Amino acid sequence: MSKQEIALHLAHRLTAGRPVCLLTVRYKGQVNVMSLGWAVPLSAEPPLMGLAIHPACYTHDMLIKSQECVLNIPARPLAEQVLSCGTVSGAQTDKITLTHLHLDNGRRVETPWISECLAHIECALVSTSAPGDHTLFIVEIVGAWAEEAAFKDGLWLCPRDDEELQPLVHLGGTMFTLLSSSFIVNPDKGSS
Ligand SMILES: Cc1cc2nc3c(=O)[nH]c(=O)nc-3n(C[C@H](O)[C@H](O)[C@H](O)COP(=O)(O)O)c2cc1C
Repeated sequence: MSKQEIALHLAHRLTAGRPVCLLTVRYKGQVNVMSLGWAVPLSAEPPLMGLAIHPACYTHDMLIKSQECVLNIPARPLAEQVLSCGTVSGAQTDKITLTHLHLDNGRRVETPWISECLAHIECALVSTSAPGDHTLFIVEIVGAWAEEAAFKDGLWLCPRDDEELQPLVHLGGTMFTLLSSSFIVNPDKGSS
């Protein structure tokens, strides 16, 4: 194998593989949506996630003020809207109108869902910190819903032949892939 050195600021992309999110926030009646790739699980009990959001994002201060958000998980048909929500700011533009996305009421939060998405994770803000150029928002999951045809028994099904049921993964820039081919590993084979 021939290994090339990777620029440090791009090295995080080597770990790409989680679904990208459309994060919704609502404050004083205004709803905003931004694309968010940097969302990671931090704890199962309590169920916590870490969201890295740049302070320049309009969403950043809305989330601090509203104290809650929804992580919506899109599939292939929403890739173009994900790019728009990740390049246009809600400070200037109503992105829900721009992208023709639709909203549903949240179940355990005041923040609405993006109806067209496969799944919705409702979150309450726990804390913020500033480890670097992005703010780390630690949020607690207070509710979660997913399409039955896409997520069953706690797992993404990733059906090979149906892009509408495959979560979208951001690789960087304008490059995306899909969670499209799952398989089961034999636990006895790793050490034989
Ligand atoms: C696929 C994708 C993923 C992104 N992930 C993040 C992220 O994890 N954190 C972040 O701060 N910005 C991220 N961005 C950039 C923001 O979505 C972008 O700055 C957006 O315009 C912010 O919107 P707002 O100003 O309405 O909050 C991402 C952009 C794209 C296209």
